[in-house]
Amino acid sequence: MSEQNLVTTEHLNNGVEMPRLGLGVWKTDNASAKQSVSEAIQHGYRMIDTAKQYGNETGVGEGIREGLEKSGLNRKDLFVTTKVFNGDQGYQSTLDAINGSLKRLQLTYIDLLLIHWPVDGKYIDTWKAMEQLYRQGKVRAIGISNFDVEHMRNLLDHADITPVVNQMEFHPLQQQKDVLKFAQHAGIQIEAWSPLGGGEVLDNPTLQKIADAHHKSVAQVIIRWDLQRNIITIPKSSHLERIQQNADVFDFELTDAEVETINNLDEGKSSLWYDDFAWHNMKGEGIPDTVDTWYDSPEDYDK
Ligand code: A2P
Repeated sequence: MSEQNLVTTEHLNNGVEMPRLGLGVWKTDNASAKQSVSEAIQHGYRMIDTAKQYGNETGVGEGIREGLEKSGLNRKDLFVTTKVFNGDQGYQSTLDAINGSLKRLQLTYIDLLLIHWPVDGKYIDTWKAMEQLYRQGKVRAIGISNFDVEHMRNLLDHADITPVVNQMEFHPLQQQKDVLKFAQHAGIQIEAWSPLGGGEVLDNPTLQKIADAHHKSVAQVIIRWDLQRNIITIPKSSHLERIQQNADVFDFELTDAEVETINNLDEGKSSLWYDDFAWHNMKGEGIPDTVDTWYDSPEDYDK
């Protein structure tokens, strides 16, 4: 049985240690983000993942402040990720945008800054700015998100610094094996977003059977599978009981056969293809008006 816990880290390619299990806050408003983040820190979580695009950096910042205070921890005990908003991509705009994120998060540095999406024609310039922010010490590590193999190849052709992480959609039904293979070969750590498939994987009968065998929930089995695959994972929940449950994954181990069974569930099925917002972003077309909790322009996020 492994002796891991919420403090256990993965060694990134620049020497920075990143906790392997953290809290995601996508689709969480400011008030709820504050509460979830504060409760998660008090419950032992040491890594929080947000983005300007989520519109909740302010709530996350308040949650971090409260969580650290109530648990008697310091800023350095926590690992905070945020991302460069599509509308901010480009060299100077990325340099400028970090100040807004730092202010909203009430932080003096970011642990990990990611390019949120590979916006066509811009992501190389964005990366150059992030390399600069890294050299300035405003961020401890820089990485990418939602990059496919071609995006990674192109970035590596132009980059001075190899990304530490590619955060991608990864769950039993969507495993993007080509991306995983390329990233791992290049020394880029994979981090799973929507590890529970946005909740849609939780009624899968195969996973339920494995969960029953371990007296665990399907969510716990998936998180455990991520950890055993050395994939950093950030399940999202706005409920304390689930936040606790999702961290209670260090007292059991999946067998090799169970890991293999889950590996074989891959259908290449993204939870995004049905989502107007995400589809437009994937194609770098900006944010449609139809999703009312998401803002249209970078300025809206600076409020
Ligand atoms: P909620 O926030 O209401 O708890 P993902 O991280 O893949 O995006 O999945 C997040 C979704 O899964 C959210 O809808 C969240 O709901 C739900 N969820 C998170 N943890 C659990 C859990 N342990 N059991 C059931 N549903 C969960």
